[in-house]
Amino acid sequence: MATDDTTYRWVKDGSLGAGRMRYGADYNPEQWPREVWDEDVRLMREAGVNIVSLGIFSWALLEPRPGEWDFGWLDEIMGLLHENGIDVDLATATASPPPWLAKRHPEILPQTIDGTTLWPGARQHWRPTSPIFREHALRLTRALAERYADHPALVAWHISNELGCHNLYDFSDDAARAFRLWLQEHYPTLDALNEAWGTAFWSQHYGEWDEILPPRTAPTQRNPGQQLDFERFSSDAVRDHLRAENAVLAEVTPGVPRTTNFMVAQNVRDIDYASWVDDVDFVSNDHYLRPGEIGRDDLSFWANLTGNLAGGRPWFLMEHATSAVNWRAVNPPKRPGELVRDALTHVGHGADAVCYFQWRQSRAGGERYHSGMVPHAGADSRVFRDVVDLGAQLQALATVTGSRREKARVALVFDYESWWVSGRDSHPSERPAYDDETLQWYRALLDLGVRVDVVPVAADLGAYEVVLAPMLHVVPASTRDRLVAFVAAGGHLVTTYFSGVVDEHDRVWLGGYPGALRDLLGVTVEEFVPLLPGETGALSSGAVVRDWSERISRVEPDVEVVAAYRGGDLDGAPAITRRRVGVNGGSATYVSASIGREGAGDVLRGLAGDIRALAADALAVGGDLDVIVRADADARYVFLANRTDDEVTVSAAGDLLAGPAARGSSDTLTIAPRGVAVIAQASAAGSA
Ligand code: GAL
Repeated sequence: MATDDTTYRWVKDGSLGAGRMRYGADYNPEQWPREVWDEDVRLMREAGVNIVSLGIFSWALLEPRPGEWDFGWLDEIMGLLHENGIDVDLATATASPPPWLAKRHPEILPQTIDGTTLWPGARQHWRPTSPIFREHALRLTRALAERYADHPALVAWHISNELGCHNLYDFSDDAARAFRLWLQEHYPTLDALNEAWGTAFWSQHYGEWDEILPPRTAPTQRNPGQQLDFERFSSDAVRDHLRAENAVLAEVTPGVPRTTNFMVAQNVRDIDYASWVDDVDFVSNDHYLRPGEIGRDDLSFWANLTGNLAGGRPWFLMEHATSAVNWRAVNPPKRPGELVRDALTHVGHGADAVCYFQWRQSRAGGERYHSGMVPHAGADSRVFRDVVDLGAQLQALATVTGSRREKARVALVFDYESWWVSGRDSHPSERPAYDDETLQWYRALLDLGVRVDVVPVAADLGAYEVVLAPMLHVVPASTRDRLVAFVAAGGHLVTTYFSGVVDEHDRVWLGGYPGALRDLLGVTVEEFVPLLPGETGALSSGAVVRDWSERISRVEPDVEVVAAYRGGDLDGAPAITRRRVGVNGGSATYVSASIGREGAGDVLRGLAGDIRALAADALAVGGDLDVIVRADADARYVFLANRTDDEVTVSAAGDLLAGPAARGSSDTLTIAPRGVAVIAQASAAGSA
């Protein structure tokens, strides 16, 4: 993210937002006969669509043979869209190379961990580090930029598409070469690398840089330091591609804002988006709902993180689904109300644009059963009626655009590297999952009605009263020092099992767990005690333990034992502890077991007596509503997302701007099942 507002054009001069919510989709007119385009723009107008992402997978049509361009169809659709008042977020079209490129240069094709080649026939079959692919992609980027630089429909560039979605991990020889260069930039000497990776183990010591390979399939557990650096390298390698296209666009069309769609969600975990935000003019994100009851909170969690990655500024929801996707084992449609609630929940977390994959559901190809704004059934359908309804709701939210997330008093840290490393093989248990653990704590906060910011680990923690850092497994000395300073200044830290255990090279901190956080928390863990599948344990607080427990063998005298293990080998041993630290009233709480959403709720309720920031927001009515707030100089915009399948009535003053909700007598507001109400209240200081 450009931190300088003058380059953050979307917000600064409204060139993208223009004081209205952006609404639209990926649009793939090349899949349809010309006459369908006229119906498309007519229906887009009916729905209030004002932007589309165009050309994402059209390289093979734009350059049918090497160096031969066919821009005619794109010229025509750009013109048609513009005549109809619909702007274009134009793709650089490099996401999926044409068959001729793979035929001429099979050396662009990525290779999996075991050397399998990923052939053409699907999409994104290119090595992020291939110099040949890069050359061709930049040629196309330049050709498009030069042709459409002054086109009145062009409002933004969409660089590639979901970079790294299918090709993040390439183990080819190109990747090996680039990995070695990356390592040479990150380690002063080969000795330093040997030390960091602990290569004295299993005869892995390197004598020359070119002995190093990507961590390809090996006889057994691969070197953890090597794996972690390969993950970092792979995230950076894909970002290098973003930077390369970005540089061409910046040269040819310096005034047009550029973005690429992130995948800040659980299905692609291995990109450190916190390190990408400076490379885009505005953050955009794709999110696909998890089916089932967890989905609604999961959506809120990732939208929350996206909003904070964007620094509290507005961002662009580039893709989500009107109803079912087609790539899970079972793909149920959205339930009534969910289309609007999902979209407005993203808006609450800062989105100034709501876009879908895709406009018209495909007739052919691998995604023909993926929902769109216009389904196979046509416009006379539940989905399209909801799409039109949402368009009207978004128009009513024009005043919200440009406002920022209002900071919460509680932060939940989300750390990409802890996610990657805690899920490694060769661990005491494969069962605990970082994303699940963090989501449980988020849900526990929502259940209590406490507003929270999900923030990357590098965020300024000093802005918060409470920091939750579940399973913060990777803790370099610098992170430890920041957490110590946060607590010393009066902050309250809550962290959980398997935290603080390793440094930035996945080397264990010695002297007992939780390693880097041991002195701060005042507890020493000697052994991890993972539970077998189906086994449960219990705590004196009543919490049920699954998957993970720990033997705390030493507790410093000033540490309070909040709950102990009950039964089993750990009977009577401390399980949850709290230490008050320093003269500023701070505290550090440690939860040594996996106790789920209910257990987390109990811990938070226990702390709430002492920590005011954990008191419920009255509007949350016992956790029935997810309360999300944006603010600007004029107003606070309060989004009340109904987490239940029933109507919820709340007393809330303010103008009702949008949502399936109705005002009752005085200030009562009744929100439909799975609905969202948006109200505007008089401004309060404290917007982010
Ligand atoms: C995204 C992708 C889209 C479409 C969508 C389906 O990963 O960017 O092109 O495939 O998923 O859910």
